[in-house]
Amino acid sequence: MIDLAAFPRDFVWGTATSAYQIEGAVGEDGRAPSIWDTFSHTPGKVDNDDHGDEACDHYHRWPEDISLMKRLGTDAYRMSLAWPRVVPDGDGPVNAAGLDFYDRLVDGLLDAGITPSVTLYHWDLPQSLQDRGGWTVRDTAEHLAAYASVVAGRLGDRVTQWATLNEPLCSAWIGHLEGRMAPGLTDLTAAVRASYHLLLGHGLATQAVRAAAPGARVGLVTNHSTVEAASARPEDVAAAVRGDGHTNRWWLDPVYGRGFPADMRELYGVELPERAGDMETIAAPLDWHGLNYYFPVVVADDPEGPVPYAREVRVPGLPRTGMDWPVDDSGLEALLLRLTDDYGVRTLYVTENGSSFPDTVGPDGAVHDPERTRYLEQHLAACARAVRKGAPLAGYYAWSLLDNFEWAYGYDKRFGLVHVDYATQVRTLKTSGHRYAEIIRAHREASAGS
Ligand code: FCB
Repeated sequence: MIDLAAFPRDFVWGTATSAYQIEGAVGEDGRAPSIWDTFSHTPGKVDNDDHGDEACDHYHRWPEDISLMKRLGTDAYRMSLAWPRVVPDGDGPVNAAGLDFYDRLVDGLLDAGITPSVTLYHWDLPQSLQDRGGWTVRDTAEHLAAYASVVAGRLGDRVTQWATLNEPLCSAWIGHLEGRMAPGLTDLTAAVRASYHLLLGHGLATQAVRAAAPGARVGLVTNHSTVEAASARPEDVAAAVRGDGHTNRWWLDPVYGRGFPADMRELYGVELPERAGDMETIAAPLDWHGLNYYFPVVVADDPEGPVPYAREVRVPGLPRTGMDWPVDDSGLEALLLRLTDDYGVRTLYVTENGSSFPDTVGPDGAVHDPERTRYLEQHLAACARAVRKGAPLAGYYAWSLLDNFEWAYGYDKRFGLVHVDYATQVRTLKTSGHRYAEIIRAHREASAGS
């Protein structure tokens, strides 16, 4: 049961996507390659050697995709802009055709009564910047701010909701330490430097958006998991503290004015490329915080393993999604309350939450996805519990509107409320999408009557 009455009347119901995962049209209208074009075209990096060249062809089919949002009845749409469409080299000349695309898309959304929530950077760094050091160098943070200023200057008269980065943890740790995402490095020094420059870029871009678009509401989107110890053994308890530092505190402490956590600085042993004033820039007060939540983590001590020497342990009995991620909605409730109580966040959104299952179109032409439907209901129920306990949750964006290019997993992992047949680009609303529409309608009707 979802306690829908817990949600405020003006609660925002949305869906989320990102540019590289859906747009396709990678060579059109002046777009230059990003690190994800390079990575996905490097054999062996992505399952089935899939890539985003065509993806959901959203670049051409966006009017149909807006119609799908209307069928769901959502109020808002979280999307990202492809930096290499707008500023193809990452710095230097602006590509008018790229900006025009987003201009049309924003107008199309507004015409349909859907509020755009725009993320500036969802992992598709212009390759040209990567060739000059990418996130390991300070210039990239400054280029992000310059690009932010260009897009906020153009769209800021109509877009008020802005996020700087999506999940800097994944860019830094998965992209530079684990090597499973672009740019595919496995280098702790590079990863720590990248984490620093990403957060600095966030702070500089926050200033740039505010300067270019007065009235903008700027936030940051981070992903978190609860990290618990597999046993009461002191070694496992310490591993959970390190895991929490790596996954949560490293990202939240500096943004909320506490600086980078000392225990993790010591553990990484990498000097931060800090300059005077940076920490204030990183900790600029935000208008909102976006939490992406998928799964909880349980760890045991792993002294021989990679940083942070905490090995993930499978908890028996928890259901798992097609990503092999454990399903446990209590982690979402706990993290919303932690952001509220420990970090003092005043406006929160769940900016991503969802599940992947191997859906197929049935003989009746429908896509029945009971497991995703259950995941959605359980996690919305957790949101409602958090609200009852004081979390200032203003909205929920389901990941994702469409099945799409799931990064290193390619197209086999389907997260959409809408099924995409990649051979024909036919879209089919799944049962979970119908259920989401029903929930939104029920909340709206109850709010109107109250
Ligand atoms: C998040 C990403 C998003 C999508 C989901 C499943 O980490 O932000 O692009 O891949 O996971």
